[in-house]
Amino acid sequence: MAHHHSTTPQILFSIFIFIIASGGKMYASAKNITIVNVCKETVWPGIITHGNNYRGDGFTLKPGQSASYGATDGWSGRIWARTGCNFNNNNSTSTCQTGNCGPSVNCTGPGDKPVTIAEFTLGADIDYYDVSLVDGFNVPVMVKPISGKGNCSTAGCDGDMRQKCPSELAIKANEQVIGCRSACDKFNSDEYCCTGAYGDLTSCLPSNYSKSFKQVCPAASSYAFDGRTSIITCSGAQDYIVAFCASRNQTVCSYRDNKLDCTQSNGSKAFSQSWLKLLLMLALPLAIQTLF
Ligand SMILES: *[C@@H]1O[C@H](CO)[C@@H](O)[C@H](O)[C@H]1NC(C)=O
Ligand SMILES: *[C@@H]1O[C@H](CO)[C@@H](O)[C@H](O)[C@H]1NC(C)=O
Ligand SMILES: *[C@@H]1O[C@H](CO)[C@@H](O)[C@H](O)[C@H]1NC(C)=O
Ligand SMILES: *[C@@H]1O[C@H](CO)[C@@H](O)[C@H](O)[C@H]1NC(C)=O
Ligand SMILES: *[C@@H]1O[C@H](CO)[C@@H](O)[C@H](O)[C@H]1NC(C)=O
Ligand SMILES: *[C@@H]1O[C@H](CO)[C@@H](O)[C@H](O)[C@H]1NC(C)=O
Ligand SMILES: *[C@@H]1O[C@H](CO)[C@@H](O)[C@H](O)[C@H]1NC(C)=O
Ligand SMILES: *[C@@H]1O[C@H](CO)[C@@H](O)[C@H](O)[C@H]1NC(C)=O
Repeated sequence: MAHHHSTTPQILFSIFIFIIASGGKMYASAKNITIVNVCKETVWPGIITHGNNYRGDGFTLKPGQSASYGATDGWSGRIWARTGCNFNNNNSTSTCQTGNCGPSVNCTGPGDKPVTIAEFTLGADIDYYDVSLVDGFNVPVMVKPISGKGNCSTAGCDGDMRQKCPSELAIKANEQVIGCRSACDKFNSDEYCCTGAYGDLTSCLPSNYSKSFKQVCPAASSYAFDGRTSIITCSGAQDYIVAFCASRNQTVCSYRDNKLDCTQSNGSKAFSQSWLKLLLMLALPLAIQTLF
């Protein structure tokens, strides 16, 4: 579970990810999840493997940095961003403004609400993934598979819910909205939480609150029973990208078999000659770093 950090220059509205694979034979079943910070602020990703009693990983990602997480065969877990962390104080509570998962950089608990979560269940062939707003929202999250067959659509957001949060759900620090609670978390009612009389698919329907989340993040689950339509099935994906503060239409590039492939979220090629120099400039330092 080693993390490989690298800094990439941040480019307006575009992310360039270079995944340099050595044929993929040595690690035929393992997948690299590349985690990218497109936010203007530092984030501290938290990673929890399901069924691991909330013992997890964590690290620091400055703006524009990326890191890769080696997910073992059949890995199932969640990844999110913590914001506003300070691990130097000796208070064991409220280490981070959002997504807090314990007193130190490696998580020892689930991420505190409100938090946007990328969820994965990786299989030998078929993977399932989604972005969940069931626990609320802290930063936009985008999940994109590389080289999959099947649906494999990009999960996540087109905007920032912090700017569209109904005031009764907003969490603020220094006058700024830092998170948006889910209606279930805030009002704790059967209707919003899909419990009691609302505990089945036919009776628990979208609320005006969940609809406002869905508008900003169309490819995410916005309430407990929204998952069925929001969980994406993808087969044969080689790797994944999880980007914080990125929207679904942003360009991502992968580098495999000595070829650069820049594909837009909906599958259309977005590769232009004018980008070539820029891409090579960015690709070379990482290629060198990866080779040695
Ligand atoms: C994941 O990516 C890192 C850095 O790009 C690379 O060093 C590593 O070999 C990759 N791991 C797998 C399992 O492909
Ligand atoms: C520790 O927590 C208390 C109460 O939550 C707070 O008043 C105090 O400022 C905190 N101290 C530090 C060093 O963060
Ligand atoms: C907590 O921080 C205070 C002030 O920074 C220090 O005096 C104290 O020894 C620390 N306590 C522990 C248990 O680290
Ligand atoms: C966090 O856990 C990883 C292993 O998963 C370990 O390599 C790293 O040193 C830990 N970091 C800290 C600050 O404890
Ligand atoms: C992506 O979508 C957002 C919101 O829908 C829009 O503001 C932005 O201009 C788009 N970016 C690109 C590169 O198309
Ligand atoms: C949602 O509906 C409730 C009650 O019907 C209302 O009080 C609230 O203002 C509405 N919120 C939004 C964001 O429209
Ligand atoms: C892919 O899956 C998503 C989420 O389930 C769905 O909204 C979309 O329509 C699917 N696309 C295709 C082409 O089947
Ligand atoms: C997505 O694909 C459609 C055609 O399928 C195209 O019209 C549209 O411009 C594409 N969007 C982006 C952001 O490339």
